[in-house]
Amino acid sequence: MRVIEAAAEMRAYIKEEKKAGRRIGLVPTMGYLHDGHRSLIEKAASQNDTVIVSVFVNPTQFGAGEDLETYPRDLERDKETAEAGGAKVIFHPPVGEMYPKGYKTYVNVEEITGILCGKSRPTHFRGVTTVVSKLFNIVSPDRAYFGLKDAQQLAVICRMVEDMNFDIEIVPCPIVRESDGLAMSSRNTYLSVEERRQALSLGRGLAAARKLYEGGEKSIEKLTGIIRNEIDAMPMSEIDYIEAVEFPSLEPVVSAGRGTLIALAVKFGNTRLIDNIILD
Ligand code: PAJ
Repeated sequence: MRVIEAAAEMRAYIKEEKKAGRRIGLVPTMGYLHDGHRSLIEKAASQNDTVIVSVFVNPTQFGAGEDLETYPRDLERDKETAEAGGAKVIFHPPVGEMYPKGYKTYVNVEEITGILCGKSRPTHFRGVTTVVSKLFNIVSPDRAYFGLKDAQQLAVICRMVEDMNFDIEIVPCPIVRESDGLAMSSRNTYLSVEERRQALSLGRGLAAARKLYEGGEKSIEKLTGIIRNEIDAMPMSEIDYIEAVEFPSLEPVVSAGRGTLIALAVKFGNTRLIDNIILD
């Protein structure tokens, strides 16, 4: 597994790959790869000739007091996972390579970044769209892969790609869960045994809402209410939000239907977890 740290070396590598007529797939990550990331890498490998996985814990998307310093890192294991998934190269730039001294430029998608997770993390999506733009410019992929686990992030990226005329196909990938229903996340490693047990209420609540919807319930209040009850029953939970919006526009919805995104963020101790379902 080749690891490239410099943007210029990455560009040179891509230039050769393109000259050889190879299609490039990019999987942006912050590392500590799990089977959710792996599903994106495998999908990318099935649709492209060369897959690049970026592993970069992006400081601009963390707010003050968030977990930038403690975010889990394990490049050796990431190399094995990325290679097993079919990737050829890991792009792993140091922070100074992405944000050198004097750095001043940010990409910002408006309005839809101020709702849901953007309410409690007001600078988060600006950091995400900035780093993803930079990765797009460095790697020039034909396709880029994003998980529906971060449904708002995916919607924001799609908006940005359209608004900024990036010639890149964004491929959405389904949420991968543990066998007990917990959505996979690098942050799950923070959870104590008891927090993790109580966090299963997220998947349970969302599954109950889906079942209620499939039984004909269209009321947003009732659908989010059943989730709230399930999570509130857990003493360690602290709900940030449980909301329904249209996907991928993130416009408000009045009653549930095809394409309604029910998204939530809940803290267990210091760990903030997100999860969602999209109704069909
Ligand atoms: P990270 O949290 O490492 O996630 C990288 C990609 O993996 C994202 O597209 C995310 O949606 C996807 N992913 C994570 N867990 C998943 C799961 N359980 N099932 C399916 N996909 C999953 O998201 C980021 O990094 C960063 O914000 C990034 C886009 C890399 C910009 O820094």
